[in-house]
This record gives sequence, structure tokens and C-alpha cells, in this order.
Amino acid sequence: MLRKDMHEDNRRSWNAATDAHNSHKADQAAFFRGGGSTLYPDEIELLGDLKGKTLVHLQCNSGQDTLSLARLGATVTGVDISDSAIAFAQKLSADTGISGQFIRSDVYDWFEQAAQQGQKFDIAFSSYGAIVWLSDIGAWAKGVASILKPGGKVVILDFHPYPMIFNWDWKPEFSYFNGQQGQHFDNGVGDYVAISGEALAPSGYIEGVKDFINPHPGHEFNWSVSEIIMALIQAGLALRVFKEYPYFNGAKLFNDMREGENGRIYPPENMPDLPLMYGIVAEKPS
Ligand SMILES: C[S@@+](CC[C@H](N)C(=O)[O-])C[C@H]1O[C@@H](n2cnc3c(N)ncnc32)[C@H](O)[C@@H]1O
Repeated sequence: MLRKDMHEDNRRSWNAATDAHNSHKADQAAFFRGGGSTLYPDEIELLGDLKGKTLVHLQCNSGQDTLSLARLGATVTGVDISDSAIAFAQKLSADTGISGQFIRSDVYDWFEQAAQQGQKFDIAFSSYGAIVWLSDIGAWAKGVASILKPGGKVVILDFHPYPMIFNWDWKPEFSYFNGQQGQHFDNGVGDYVAISGEALAPSGYIEGVKDFINPHPGHEFNWSVSEIIMALIQAGLALRVFKEYPYFNGAKLFNDMREGENGRIYPPENMPDLPLMYGIVAEKPS
């Protein structure tokens, strides 16, 4: 069931967290002007050639990945509920001269608006901690299908719902199957950029906000892999790719995670391989 009241809590929580996250990142405009990109090879592989494509980046946060995608040749639109994130993205676009349109909206409202205006995209992209904020996965998948051109595709590269059963110390604490009811946290979105350090700050890590505690609650919806895939299929999209990865890109979401090559983050030494991210490509039939 769509819970816009909870989305509003999440908006406030993301506003506070986004300011903290960006406070740790050294001059991001200079990083982009110098040719920098915040993308990882995994999403670039799933997305394929972007030249001449229209792409909407759903839940784009501060737009760093969106502008990196524009660099690869796409005409980009970023949508996010957070006021701080969209204001930051618009300024970053202006300061770097990389063009992109950024819209502050609950993604569900934007789907309706875009559909009314007849907007259609070649690619919808969603990544790195996006799906868990969606209170109705079925309505989201239908929204995605409604804004794709025939032959267009949705590409998802996100944190796998399986490890989200663990607390910080890798003890199973949360149900894998809590998409419907959600999981509620008093201190919403944390400062995972401070915890991840350089790995999430390619422009350079600076101390920024210290000991951040989010004053706003957050509500997460840990949709299982089957719920995500079935929502896309029920929305009329055809599954083309499903992949699992034994690492996170950049983010140290749990205690004692090990940093590997290319910004890949692995579980502690004594732990077997786990699915930490998944990738999906699903196509709208022509
Ligand atoms: C972990 S971030 C995603 C990071 C992003 N992939 C990037 O490139 O930086 C999750 C984002 O989802 C946004 N969000 C959460 N609920 C939303 C909603 N209902 N509609 C639109 N955006 C939402 C948050 O504001 C936040 O920016």
C-alpha cells in the first residue's frame, strides 16, 4: 500500500542525511570539471551504450551519478523526493556545465505527471539504495512501465535485500520479508559516507559534519528479490538480465567490511560469500 505519509518522513530524513553526506566530499564540481565520474563498471555494463538515449534516473539523490551518465551521452532527467539533494544536483549541473534536468518529487507523483504529459524515456535507471524506500513495489513497477518507450528498458543495480536481515554486527535481526509492513527507524538515514570514507568520496574525503544523528525517522521496505522481479513482470516488462554480486560498490554498510579492488566492499574475512548487490534489466515490449 502506498504510504506517502512515510515518504514525507523519509524526505525530511534524506534532507538531513544528504547535507551530512555532501559535507564529507571535497569540491565535487572541480572533480567533474576534471573529467571525474562516480559510476562503477557494473551499472555501465547493464546500461549499455547511452549515446543519444533519454534516461530518467529515479531517486537520483544529489545527481553525481546522473551527471556521470550524461557524460556518457545520455540526455538525463533526475527525480528525487529530497529538497537538499535536488538543490545540490541543480547547482552541480550549473557549476560543471553538464546538463541535466532535476525534478524534486515523490517518484510516484512524478510517474503520474510524466504519464499525463506523455513523457517517455529509453531508459529508467535506479541504483544503490533506491528500492528499499518504495512503499508499494507493484505501483512503482507500473509507473516505470508507463514512462518507458516501447523497446525501452529499466535498469536496476541495487543493494541486495538478503544482507539487510543483518544488524551492524552481522547478527540476523530483520525479516527478509518485510516489504509490505516496512521497517521503521527513529533515526532514519545514517551517515554511511562518514563510515565508508574515501570509498564513497571519489572527489576526496573531508571531515565535514561530525557524529551525525538523524533527527528524523525513516521507513524502509525490504522487498524480496522475487517481489521485485514479479512486480516488473506483472507491469508487463520482460526480464532480460538478473545478476547477483558478492560485493557492495563503495558502501561499507556493515561492521568490519573489507575494501577490495575498484571500490568493491566485501564481508569480513571469516564470512562466506553473500549476495550483496543485484542487477536487473527488464524491457518494455515493442
Ligand atoms: C541511497 S539514495 C540513492 C542514491 C542514488 N542512486 C545516487 O545516484 O546517488 C536514495 C534516494 O531515494 C530518495 N527517495 C526516497 N524515497 C523517495 C520517493 N518516494 N520518491 C523519490 N525519491 C525518494 C532519497 O531522497 C534518496 O536521495
